[in-house]
Amino acid sequence: MPTTTDGLEDVVALHSYICDLDGKLGKLTYFGVDIHDLARYSSFEETAYLLWHGALPTRAQLEELKEQLCANRVLPEQVLELMRLLPTTTSPMDVLRTTVSAVSSFDPDAGDTSAAANHRRAIRLTAMMTTIVADWEQMRNGREPVAPLADGDHATNFLYMLKGKMPDAYDAHVVDVVLILHADHELNASTFAARVTAATLAGMYAAISAAIAALSGPLHGGANEQVMRMLLRIGEVSQAEPYIQGALERKERIMGFGHRVYRTEDPRATHLRAMSEELGKRTGDSRWYQISRIIEQYVKEHKGLNANVDFYSASVYYMLGIPIDLDTPVLACSRISGWTAHVLEQYANNRLIRPRAEYIGPKVTEYVPIEQRG
Ligand code: COA
Repeated sequence: MPTTTDGLEDVVALHSYICDLDGKLGKLTYFGVDIHDLARYSSFEETAYLLWHGALPTRAQLEELKEQLCANRVLPEQVLELMRLLPTTTSPMDVLRTTVSAVSSFDPDAGDTSAAANHRRAIRLTAMMTTIVADWEQMRNGREPVAPLADGDHATNFLYMLKGKMPDAYDAHVVDVVLILHADHELNASTFAARVTAATLAGMYAAISAAIAALSGPLHGGANEQVMRMLLRIGEVSQAEPYIQGALERKERIMGFGHRVYRTEDPRATHLRAMSEELGKRTGDSRWYQISRIIEQYVKEHKGLNANVDFYSASVYYMLGIPIDLDTPVLACSRISGWTAHVLEQYANNRLIRPRAEYIGPKVTEYVPIEQRG
């Protein structure tokens, strides 16, 4: 048996049409469409359509998808009741995982495993994720959930439900770009978890619950939240360099840096850095951007590590007024489009994913009866 690569580094596990990621060139495309073009010209809805169908939508197809998303945003009343039973201290990622799992009980396509039913599930799940996050934010603060708008785009609806008022158009645009940038990223840990689960022919809700669980860890999606906590600990621009110098001397892992695949600038970070700077100017408080910039330059110079997607998204979310523990759920609200696209692709050409482990334990161990064990 070939020798194992810990963490499956550089192991190619399957074929996929969805996302092409070149870590040396820092190039990211969805079905060949460059992420920079999507960030500049597209919308989250259009990007989700691309991921699900392999082509950009016509205007009519896009309008139809927007209507379908609007029609599926509201959570079943029983699911809201279930959420109300959870302690308000529950982590939003745990709420997301639990609620997505619960939503499966109310699936109007229950029992239908056809590709068409799974496409409908992908749309429903994408529509509902932002509602779950926004409703939880209202509930844990003792407020009633805010009903989604009858129409409007996904980003605007999300901010509206989250804050209970119509968002500023620029803020909604930033959230839209954030949703585009995080939509898919090849076989990252959570997408792999989704595909492994789907490959057993478990249902889409099960696969997405597995993906949310994998995303919650600090080495994956949880990093953005940790970045903001670090920026807040630093607090002042003058403290940025001494802090990061000390952290590196203590050999701490700096959240928001490094990547398993990228060896150059993460193309998503390019947009997030620019949005962090712009938001700093608009809010009149550039502190978080400036601290981030000092840390980025120091870590690059002294460790050779680039900032990843989570680094600047932290300050972007903060300046948008998104609570810090919702940073990872926001990422999930975007990645649901990629997860479901990968699950659809897995179902369409399925083979059970079952690798081997290289056994390194003892070859023969005598069974000693319990009375004779020391
Ligand atoms: N801070 C400090 N050192 C880091 C680092 C970081 N964020 N990321 C990697 N390194 C160092 C490691 O200490 C290691 O150094 P060594 O060889 O001297 O021991 C080397 O770089 C390789 O790290 P490794 O953990 O083996 O790389 P990986 O490919 O397994 O890990 C990540 C990739 C993303 C898990 C890792 O970079 C990390 O933990 N980053 C912080 C969490 C984060 O931002 N995650 C979001 C990813 S989008």
